[in-house]
Amino acid sequence: MSEKSGLLQNILKALKPKPGGAGAEGGPLPEVQLVRRRLVTASVLGCLGVNFLMFLRFFFPRALFEPKTIFNVGYPSDYGFGVDEKYKQAYRIWVVRNAEGLVAIYARCTHLGCTPNWNAAENKFKCPCHGSGYDSEGVNVEGPAPRPMDRARIELLPTGEIQVDTSVLYQFGNWDDPGSIVRV
Ligand code: FES
Repeated sequence: MSEKSGLLQNILKALKPKPGGAGAEGGPLPEVQLVRRRLVTASVLGCLGVNFLMFLRFFFPRALFEPKTIFNVGYPSDYGFGVDEKYKQAYRIWVVRNAEGLVAIYARCTHLGCTPNWNAAENKFKCPCHGSGYDSEGVNVEGPAPRPMDRARIELLPTGEIQVDTSVLYQFGNWDDPGSIVRV
């Protein structure tokens, strides 16, 4: 017989009224009282445990830690011609030096927003979701992407460092805006 059904039988047996009211005279507690006491103790401990966990949860607020939108990416001399991937993981941008200067391409596919990958061997960005392809300037060349990838605001600080702001994006058509390129 299993332990549970044994316990149940004990409870039922103990619940049967006994002649003379066992346990009333300070003798050993009847089984039902022991079981009841254990249940109450378990309930109280359970409640205390749940409350303690809720108390601990208070110290871990549900906050989303999003990356900064304004950050520095080093100096112009850090970048050779082509695509630099070192800030993609942290800030979702590629810094690209082309014939005119430095731009920060925002790594978001203009089809449905996936993050494309830079494929140096093919000299293009390729989106893993539905196959859109972009050239090294971020201009769409294949797949369902409707337009080139956006460029983030980029500027040269008085310190000589380059600062990027991904909260300001330039769509194709606004790429001659001074904030979309650092001409160095
Ligand atoms: S999201 Fe990039 S091709 Fe669809």
